[in-house]
Formats: sequence, structure tokens, C-alpha cells
Amino acid sequence: MLKGILQFSHHLLEESVNVGELVIDATCGNGNDTIFLSEIVGKNGHVLAFDIQEKAIVSTRETLINNGISNVSLIHDSHANLEDYLSKEENQTIGGAIFNLGYLPRSDKKIITRPESTITAIDTILNRLKQSGLMVLVVYHGHDGGKEEKEAILKHVIRLDQKEYNVLQYGFINQKNLPPFIIAIQKK
Ligand SMILES: C[S@@+](CC[C@H](N)C(=O)[O-])C[C@H]1O[C@@H](n2cnc3c(N)ncnc32)[C@H](O)[C@@H]1O
Repeated sequence: MLKGILQFSHHLLEESVNVGELVIDATCGNGNDTIFLSEIVGKNGHVLAFDIQEKAIVSTRETLINNGISNVSLIHDSHANLEDYLSKEENQTIGGAIFNLGYLPRSDKKIITRPESTITAIDTILNRLKQSGLMVLVVYHGHDGGKEEKEAILKHVIRLDQKEYNVLQYGFINQKNLPPFIIAIQKK
């Protein structure tokens, strides 16, 4: 069967991330992807999980405590500042990353990911991504501001040099109501 969007995003990361690596949840929200990443890197790995909303950080922290998870650093800041939280050693690589764009479900729909900060974070991660590593963006675009972000991101990633990156788009084209889709970028 064809995998659904969230299932496929996790499948891609499961296939490419190794135990012990550093990985990024660029938009932790309620922490679903954070927990998933924490499991696939194991206790010797590390997750940096970002969100600009206090509510999301509180919610994810609670989930981490309830699940006895200790290999996550929760960062209440924009993913645009990600560089500040990486080691200054240039040989430190990122094993994989995920973004879930848009707004936090059942929350303020005005607090959304924005093209400029998302693209800054994409470029920071690509710079440090390990060879054959994957960055997965789950692009929700049905809300106000979603179309602009979708277009800006597509314009940006379509230009990535094919000698250095494979860029995949995965989505269901016969679904109603602007369904989310995946952009997956693999460093060659
Ligand atoms: C679709 S939700 C993420 C859902 C999350 N993956 C989960 O499992 O619940 C998008 C999140 O991105 C956050 N966000 C928006 N702009 C951000 C930014 N510049 N940096 C980090 N997080 C941001 C929002 O606060 C929101 O919680």
C-alpha cells in the first residue's frame, strides 16, 4: 500500500538515520515527531527540538517526561537560529531532520511557520547534513499564509544542485482540501 504522509515521513527517516546521531525536529508542536526521533537515535543519540510557542514546548516537555525520555534538548526559539545551538566544530554532522509546517493543531492559527525562517533553517541543516542524510518537510498549505510558504519553499528547493542533492516531492494529487505533501531532500 502507498504510505500516508506522516507514515512516509517517518519511514524515510527510519531508513536513513542511525543510532547515536544528532537529529533535528524543527517544529516540535505537541512532540509526536520528537518522540519518534528520540526512539530512532537511541539513548546515545540526541534530538534538538525547536518551537517558538511556549504552549508547544510545555506540551512536548510533558510528553517527554511521561515517556521517560532524556535524549532531547527542547529549545524555545525559532529554527532560524538553529546555527546557534550546533557545536562550533564544523565536523559535527546532522543525521536527519523533520519540519511539520503550518500551525499547531487546536491552537492559534496565526502562529504559523513563515517562508523566510523556514528557508534559513533548511539551509543551515543542509550545510551540516551527513552524506546520504535526509531532511523531510511535511508541507501543510491549506491555511492563511500556507500558499505563500509552499511556493517560496518549492522555488528554493527546486534550485538545489542535482549534483549535490536529490529532491523528492511525494503527495496524493486526487485528494480534496489542499492535502499536505512531503518534500524530502537527500544530500548525495
Ligand atoms: C504543524 S505544527 C507541528 C506539529 C508537531 N510536529 C507535532 O507532532 O505535534 C507547527 C509548529 O511550528 C511552530 N513554529 C512556527 N514557526 C516556527 C519557527 N520559526 N521555529 C520553530 N517553530 C516554529 C508552531 O508554533 C507549531 O507548533
